[in-house]
Amino acid sequence: MLANAALKQASRVQLANKMAPIQSRAFHDLTLRKKTGKPLIGYGRGGRSSTNGQVATVFGCTGFLGRYVVSKLAKQGTQVIVANRDPDESRHLKVTGDLGQVIPLEFSLKNKDQLLECVRHSDIVYNLIGRDYETKNYTFEDVHVNGPRLMAEACAEAGVARFVQVSALNASEDSPSKFLRTKALGEKAVREVIPDATIVRPSIMWGHEDRFLNRIGDADGWQYWVNESKTKILPVAVLDVAQALSVLLNAESSMGKTYELYGAKQYTFEDVFNLAREISMKPLPTYNVPTPVAKLAATFLDKLPYNQMISPDLIQRMTMDDKPTPGALTFADLYMEPTLLENVAIQYLRRFRSNAVFDLPFEKGDGQIQKGVYHIID
Ligand SMILES: NC(=O)c1ccc[n+]([C@@H]2O[C@H](COP(=O)([O-])OP(=O)(O)OC[C@H]3O[C@@H](n4cnc5c(N)ncnc54)[C@H](OP(=O)(O)O)[C@@H]3O)[C@@H](O)[C@H]2O)c1
Repeated sequence: MLANAALKQASRVQLANKMAPIQSRAFHDLTLRKKTGKPLIGYGRGGRSSTNGQVATVFGCTGFLGRYVVSKLAKQGTQVIVANRDPDESRHLKVTGDLGQVIPLEFSLKNKDQLLECVRHSDIVYNLIGRDYETKNYTFEDVHVNGPRLMAEACAEAGVARFVQVSALNASEDSPSKFLRTKALGEKAVREVIPDATIVRPSIMWGHEDRFLNRIGDADGWQYWVNESKTKILPVAVLDVAQALSVLLNAESSMGKTYELYGAKQYTFEDVFNLAREISMKPLPTYNVPTPVAKLAATFLDKLPYNQMISPDLIQRMTMDDKPTPGALTFADLYMEPTLLENVAIQYLRRFRSNAVFDLPFEKGDGQIQKGVYHIID
């Protein structure tokens, strides 16, 4: 009796199985990596709680640019390996992605086994590591040349399909700045190991945690500057650079190319000071120091422990105009338009405003930016 019932049930299941429509995987769920042929299987509707099938390692994730890059990658369902030197420094990145999607791993830039472990299962590796000054443990060569070369070797060994090296605008082997010379040598070292690596050269970046607008806005008391603040710069939004880096995730056409990412408008440091003065309603006085004197002072200050403010090389760079390479690929080649600093500066400089803003008249009219009423429209 029982056996009969079981048989009937089994044939009913068989029939149901036969009649069930055969569903096939959608082609848009499956992408093949051009270089490795490895399938990338996406799942879900797209976004934070889905997966795009990609694993990305971000070196330098604990820095200014790093947090935005990790956030943008994780937001599209990428599993991100946040390579760090101190787990506490990368803890804030955990919440940028869904549970288990942001994975911290410790590494040292001089330890190839650790580097290999960080990139072993990745489809793409971003190297954002850079430093404005040398330390007793790491010279510019260590950070910008030897480290990236070792990292590229680890990637080649692990069969990582893509490598993105973040360098700097103006990087050149014959630059008077050691930072920029080593950045150029770093690009070369990476390309020797991985010829189709993508190089990204951002200009000076602004954002909430920058070392640019924050320094200018904070200059309420005494602020030294060199070159009479006449150095010409092309500042770029950190969010734009992070967005461009996240676009590269899927843009295999960017392999082997170099992108120079700079802002839409040229300013001098004095122009930016004037913008900050207008927004903050503070005098923000600057004092011009002759470059050799500033370099000498910076040489001594550079030796102080925990000084992360100034180095002779930084002074040198403060005197150098931004010069994009003619014909170089830029935002337009990624179908992006860079943000204009004036349009968003209030967001970053608001916290430096004087209480004089409360005496300003309320804004009337069409919502256009008017002098003296910034506080209403922000
Ligand atoms: N900020 C700009 O305006 C600007 C302009 C042009 C180019 N860039 C380049 O863009 C990249 C990102 O800039 P950023 O402003 O985000 O830099 P950042 O805030 O100074 O962050 C640098 C990152 O590099 C890591 N790092 C530095 N030295 C290291 C070492 N010896 N070993 C391991 N990790 C090390 C830091 O890790 P820890 O947190 O552990 O120290 C941090 O994650 C850099 O390559 C920089 O040179 C920046």
